[in-house]
Amino acid sequence: MCGITGIVSLSRSDIGKILVECGRKLTYRGYDSVGVAAVRNGRVDLRKDVGTIDEVNDRLGLSEMLGDRGITQLRWATYGAPTRVNAQPHFGCEEVFYGAHNGNIHNFHEYRSELIETGHIVRSENDGELCVHAVDKYYEQTGDMLESIQKSVDDLKGAYAYAIGRADAQEIFAVKMGSSLVTGVGESETIVSSDLPSILPVTRSVIYLQDGEMLHLTPDEVKVYRIEDGKKLDRVPELSSVDLNAAEKGGYPHFMLKEIYEQPNVAKDLMGLLEGGRNEEWLSMIEDASRVYLVACGSSYNAGIVGSYYFNRLAGTPIIPSIGGQFEPMYGKSLDEDSLCILVSQSGETKDVLNVLNLVRRDNLGKTLGILNVIGSTLMFNSDSYVPMGCGYEVSVPATKTYFAQTIIFAYLSAMLGLRNGTLSAGESRRILETLQNDLPKLTQQTIDRTGILAKNLASTMTDVKDLYCLGYGFTDGVAREGAWKIKEICYNHCEGMYSSEFKHGPLSIVTDNYPVIFVTTTEDSWMMINHINEVSCRGGRTIIVGEREDKLGPYVESETDYLAVPKSDPLINPILDVIPLQLLSYFLSIDLCIDPDLPRNLSKTLTVD
Ligand code: BG6
Repeated sequence: MCGITGIVSLSRSDIGKILVECGRKLTYRGYDSVGVAAVRNGRVDLRKDVGTIDEVNDRLGLSEMLGDRGITQLRWATYGAPTRVNAQPHFGCEEVFYGAHNGNIHNFHEYRSELIETGHIVRSENDGELCVHAVDKYYEQTGDMLESIQKSVDDLKGAYAYAIGRADAQEIFAVKMGSSLVTGVGESETIVSSDLPSILPVTRSVIYLQDGEMLHLTPDEVKVYRIEDGKKLDRVPELSSVDLNAAEKGGYPHFMLKEIYEQPNVAKDLMGLLEGGRNEEWLSMIEDASRVYLVACGSSYNAGIVGSYYFNRLAGTPIIPSIGGQFEPMYGKSLDEDSLCILVSQSGETKDVLNVLNLVRRDNLGKTLGILNVIGSTLMFNSDSYVPMGCGYEVSVPATKTYFAQTIIFAYLSAMLGLRNGTLSAGESRRILETLQNDLPKLTQQTIDRTGILAKNLASTMTDVKDLYCLGYGFTDGVAREGAWKIKEICYNHCEGMYSSEFKHGPLSIVTDNYPVIFVTTTEDSWMMINHINEVSCRGGRTIIVGEREDKLGPYVESETDYLAVPKSDPLINPILDVIPLQLLSYFLSIDLCIDPDLPRNLSKTLTVD
């Protein structure tokens, strides 16, 4: 997955500077390679290379590039290795057309061969180059950019967005066909980008786009057209109130640490948001559905597992969690007009999740409820209703505060639902809701304060560990998976998260002297977890515990360092808090291993490809 930004300006001659500033805000989307095409006096200066935007900028002086228009692209490699030649933007056959894309062109191999056979000079193994050639090809025939773009879309199969310009024209065109795209209208300049934060250094006046739309940007205006029939659409820019500071580290060494420390505020703000939200609608959607699925990927899926336990426990409502890409082959046939898919996605752009949204909409297979953080995302615009997480931008690639917010949303909705359907008494429901409302922010802060130093110390004992397990039982199933996910993502260790009672059915054979296993537990389930701890400790394994301090668990750890104790709280709040020491452990271990936790290798925060 990648990020693109294009700017056409009357007021600037140093376009490289602003392209780098805006492009930097898309770093979370890709850092395999970066390029800038800057146009001045009808000539395109194209510089690109492997690395992050800051690394390539230092090497090639991207921010010093002159011109009054241009395109930058940050790449997360799919088609073609992360090399200089595969970096974007690309030229067409000559140095006239320049452009870049985000997404995947599925008919890459056939179309690339076809272009080469018809005389196109294709230089790279990257599918983004085909977008430029497709327009180049049709422009030769039509001499009209909009028509050429329409025809290019017929040729290019897949889900993508691209931006393209010509050396001799003070304009840029862009296309949205399945990947995110936002545009903005500033003072004598316009901008198009994969995401809002990179628009904001230029303007707050933004237009969100729909799939199947194309744009024509000139310094004074952005015209939006429907690709299908070329009809010009009426789109009025709206003022964005998103806080730009969200994309700054604010004194923290990494975004990840900042975002972990923001969690007490997330807890506070989110409860306000939920109390004032469209509860009636969300709860009725769940109540009215014949069956409910929860579809998500990565950390959002792990949170969804916690959610399924909440809905069962507090509301007696089965909600089946499914990984986005697995949903259709595993459950697709069971959907009908009465089903509900709860689609959980921080970005609201994850393709594996949007595929399910599109399936439901296309075949009229029931309702969709989005749970999302990014306002203006595809998921927000296209689900029947949505619950906002209200976390502010999460910049670091590993999800922390958004996972945390998702678990709070599930606890809240299930407690409300349980009250309505009688699974919980009024008193029980009130106790849970009041704890979420009044105590959770404080408990979250205490968890960070108490486990921060413990996690740092524990991390320092684990730098030689290459392989470990993280086990949960009941509510902490999803928490353990998330802890393992974090360690995998940013420490490059093999850490498997799984159900603790399942461990003895196979993976237990890995345990030898000192083999580390993290057990994540609530006070409610520790009686059972002790059995699973014993299975490991009696074979010489190293027991690491995450949970409230309990006397019966103490003897199992060899030193205090191996007990990440969260503050005392309601057992139903444990699953929300228990993730925090695991986030901190993975963060500090990543630092000890000299890895940048914000930009782990090979990953991207938003994956808009299958
Ligand atoms: C991944 C990100 O690719 O997408 C993960 O690296 C994230 O951090 C996952 O959890 C799902 O993202 P989203 O936006 O759908 O919640």
